[in-house]
Amino acid sequence: MAIQNKTARTGRMMITGANGLLGREISRFFSRGYEILRTDREECDVTRARECLRVIGEFSPDVVVHCAAYTAVDRAEAEEEAAFALNARGTRNVALACREHGALLVTFGTDYVFDGTSERPYSENDPTGPLSAYGRSKLAAEEAVREIAPDFLLLRTQWLFGAHGRNFVSSILDRAGRGEELRVVSDQKGSPTYSLDLADAVKRLLDAGSRGIFHFSNEGETTFFVYAAFLLAHTGNKEARLSALSTSDLSRDEYPAPRPLYAVLSKKKYREATGVAPRRWEEAVLDFLRTGSRGERDS
Ligand SMILES: NC(=O)c1ccc[n+]([C@@H]2O[C@H](COP(=O)([O-])OP(=O)(O)OC[C@H]3O[C@@H](n4cnc5c(N)ncnc54)[C@H](OP(=O)(O)O)[C@@H]3O)[C@@H](O)[C@H]2O)c1
Repeated sequence: MAIQNKTARTGRMMITGANGLLGREISRFFSRGYEILRTDREECDVTRARECLRVIGEFSPDVVVHCAAYTAVDRAEAEEEAAFALNARGTRNVALACREHGALLVTFGTDYVFDGTSERPYSENDPTGPLSAYGRSKLAAEEAVREIAPDFLLLRTQWLFGAHGRNFVSSILDRAGRGEELRVVSDQKGSPTYSLDLADAVKRLLDAGSRGIFHFSNEGETTFFVYAAFLLAHTGNKEARLSALSTSDLSRDEYPAPRPLYAVLSKKKYREATGVAPRRWEEAVLDFLRTGSRGERDS
């Protein structure tokens, strides 16, 4: 898969949560193709319906890429109301403003809407059954989008990593760098997703005129343990102390949110819509370590 972002300017794009992991990647990726308005909580607090209407009305974007979200999965167990305020009602506010001002809404969902009992990759139409407060709040966000926005694209994704923000890659490498012993779960299956590849997937779906819900991650399934071992092996951390543990061994005080044990997403619909398959996660991780790792791309 070749990353493609060389386009003539095609319109105006507003981004919410533009300082987050994905918001920064989206801002960077689309800056050559669009006139961009980057907003975060200060410029457009998505929990404020009138602020969303005003900011979207004034900029009059063709596309709103809504990245703002409550993403503290474990904290959400004790703060379900805060997670719903941002994820469900915030998304509802953005969707209403998009409908009012005729903008296409692009936003992101999560594998945590599933219960993890499937024995094959989840497709877009599989029944949902979130186990956690975060998952419930993101499912409510999906319902708001479906109900309100006539024109939307929602990409469910998982295990995001990239140049911006804290994520599994930065956490493992930082902890290994400090010489900490790493104990990582070996019984949760999913697929890492490079934020750059996710931005590229948004572009491909936009170019294809696709609408509705799509699953996107890098190809190939793994566990967090194998993923951590791969990272250590490819960053000269061969001496790092890594051991496997099972989800049931995790401290419920530290990790109160239940997680789906099997959360692999089927990319069949994405492949059919765009004509390309996502690259494998190992290739994406190596590309990130070579060319996009922390600091170099953070601007
Ligand atoms: N990261 C993953 O592994 C993952 C996996 C699956 C799906 N997703 C989804 O992908 C999307 C992007 O996630 P991410 O990892 O980029 O999240 P993130 O790094 O946590 O960024 C979220 C951004 O939203 C901002 N924000 C918080 N409250 C706001 C408000 N009231 N109004 C406007 N902005 C506000 C945050 O600002 P502050 O920092 O100031 O709070 C932050 O800049 C989300 O929909 C998430 O659910 C992520």
